Amino acid sequence: MMPRSCLAIVLAAGEGTRMRSARPKVLHAIAGRSLLAHVLAALSGTGVGAIAVVIGPGQEEVAAAAKRVAPDVAVFVQEERRGTAHAALAAKSAIERLPDDVLVVYGDTPLIRPRSLSRLRAALADGAAVAVLGFRPADPSGYGRLIAANGELTAIREEVDASAAERAITLCNGGIMALNGKTALAILERIGDHNRKAEFYLTDAVEIARGMKLHAVAVEVEEDDVRGINTKAQLAEAEAVAQQRLRRAALDAGVTLIAPDTVYLCADTKFGRDVVVEPYVVFGEKVTIEDGAVIRSFSHLAGAHVGKGASVGPFARLRPGTQLGEGARIGNFVEVKEAVVEAGAKANHLSYIGDALVGANANVGAGTITCNYDGSEKHRTEIGKNAFIGSNSALVAPVKIGDGAYIGSGSVITDDVPADALAVARGRQTVKEGWATRLRSLKSLGKKKAHSRD
Ligand code: UD1
Ligand code: CA
Repeated sequence: MMPRSCLAIVLAAGEGTRMRSARPKVLHAIAGRSLLAHVLAALSGTGVGAIAVVIGPGQEEVAAAAKRVAPDVAVFVQEERRGTAHAALAAKSAIERLPDDVLVVYGDTPLIRPRSLSRLRAALADGAAVAVLGFRPADPSGYGRLIAANGELTAIREEVDASAAERAITLCNGGIMALNGKTALAILERIGDHNRKAEFYLTDAVEIARGMKLHAVAVEVEEDDVRGINTKAQLAEAEAVAQQRLRRAALDAGVTLIAPDTVYLCADTKFGRDVVVEPYVVFGEKVTIEDGAVIRSFSHLAGAHVGKGASVGPFARLRPGTQLGEGARIGNFVEVKEAVVEAGAKANHLSYIGDALVGANANVGAGTITCNYDGSEKHRTEIGKNAFIGSNSALVAPVKIGDGAYIGSGSVITDDVPADALAVARGRQTVKEGWATRLRSLKSLGKKKAHSRD
């Protein structure tokens, strides 16, 4: 049998007023990725062929974010916010292409997993015209209720329109729906706005399908899959769920997380084998950790590649563009940005390494700073292989330190240093013998004079 074709419509035109934010709701992030990007990732994991994203007027930011993640998405604008069915119909021209399945998902439901979407599509393959994801939330308030009889779904009632008896139903609408492509448009176009909010509710599709003698079913999933995000508190709850899933996946892949609940991961964090992550580490976007590396406590990493067996922290900050070679060591209170630190190189204490190349096995002493910014532009520092940078040196970029060169402690290096040379650039020390003794005797003389006056 041919696999069924599928169009997914992502509804993202809502204003998200309850988020109390200037940012469109679906662009808020959990696990370092926007809600919208999570939904798009779940769709791509379900073998969806075409994706339509419905945005509100003026939400170009949302369209651009969608295209960054999935360049082939078609964007439709819902000119007026008149309800979820009205939003789905903004993508009418895509539905008219008659896909086998039409999947309607909400951009604010980021924890949906591909397997749950696949179960919903399977219900269509089994003959349903409408299939709805249902769940039993701990607190059903705000959700539509699924009304079922004899194994079939008969209606979905929005809470504001529900009777007391209907409100007592614990099976709720997860907000994700699949419609058979052959009847989808006929059903959607019959939906009216005769309800308390005078909106076109997608949920009315169930009763309309039933009226057309078609089948509607509910597919029950875990609450986490369909957690809708309307408020910052719900965003935080979803973050917690996403983190639990990511930690679990890392543990299952063999990463040692000593205190998993204290480690914050990003949806795209990648680990090799035998990686150890100590308590209290935060991973931002685009981090890859290779085999055998150790990330010590209180480190923050983003946009960084950590090579095999490298060691980071405690209290290290790796910013975007950091690449650590095999066995490199970045110690406490060291910040690295846009820098390649080659194999075996070390910066163990209190340094800033920005826009730099640190050659293999070089040693960057405590307190070394690459002065990469002149107030308007950034400049590069190159440190050669096996070079030794004495503590508390300032390397004023652009500057090159040759292979095997030595920099005396406390130097301010403004000119290139040839390979194997020693450069010292600091005030010479002067020593004045007996100076302190003379000072002390002068002071005690002064005190005696003062006493004799009393
Ligand atoms: C919706 C469901 C409810 C379900 C809940 C699950 C309807 C009528 N109600 O309620 O049964 O329990 O989700 O979370 O479907 N949107 C548009 N254009 C619009 C209206 C909404 O694009 O005109 C988008 C929103 O951006 C959002 C999604 O549709 O992504 C859902 O809208 P929302 O207002 O959050 O619906 P709920 O009241 O949560
Ligand atoms: Ca919602």
